[in-house]
Amino acid sequence: MNSVIIDNFFSKEEIEQLSAAINQELSTREHVEWVDEIHGKYTYVDTIVKIQEQLGRSTCSGIQLPKNIIEKIHDAVNDKNSTNEYVLMNYTVTYAEYNPKFGTPDLSPHYDGGKASLILDYQLESNIDWAIGVDDELHTLKDNDALFLKPLDYSHYRPKRIWKDGEYVKMLYFDLRLDTKFDHKLKINNIYNGVQNRNGEEHA
Ligand SMILES: [Fe+2]
Repeated sequence: MNSVIIDNFFSKEEIEQLSAAINQELSTREHVEWVDEIHGKYTYVDTIVKIQEQLGRSTCSGIQLPKNIIEKIHDAVNDKNSTNEYVLMNYTVTYAEYNPKFGTPDLSPHYDGGKASLILDYQLESNIDWAIGVDDELHTLKDNDALFLKPLDYSHYRPKRIWKDGEYVKMLYFDLRLDTKFDHKLKINNIYNGVQNRNGEEHA
């Protein structure tokens, strides 16, 4: 098992909040034809909408999330008893639309770089089935399904398909990085300062 799916992840109201945040950015940002060889392959830009012909998609990074959505994601991924927790990077999200009007949608097998050790792939809306490959398993999402995957550990991709005009898949990508909880940070600081030994006992 290399990933986990949660069905029917957001409520109707939460989807409306997300759609409003996305539309706000799509309607106010400049839409730029982005070529990796010229502009950079993994360049993070949160002030424009990238149109990538080679990938057949447009992406809009850095969409601000309402507080209740941030809390919902953190609650879904974190075990209350763990000393580590996943935190949304920048407390924002990336919106992506795959559509042949942008080029030929294509996502070949790859591992991500960077610090996001967990990604929540959320299918907002689609009028086709297009499975997500994680390692050698395929997962077909319905709208409002969420797939958690570890993009640094597992190769992920979309199987090739022939696209027709009008077909689309709209996704949200929530990047999460592993952080250390406050109590645990305090403990490490105390060890560093010689207040506690490694077993948590006071030094004599
Ligand atoms: Fe990726």
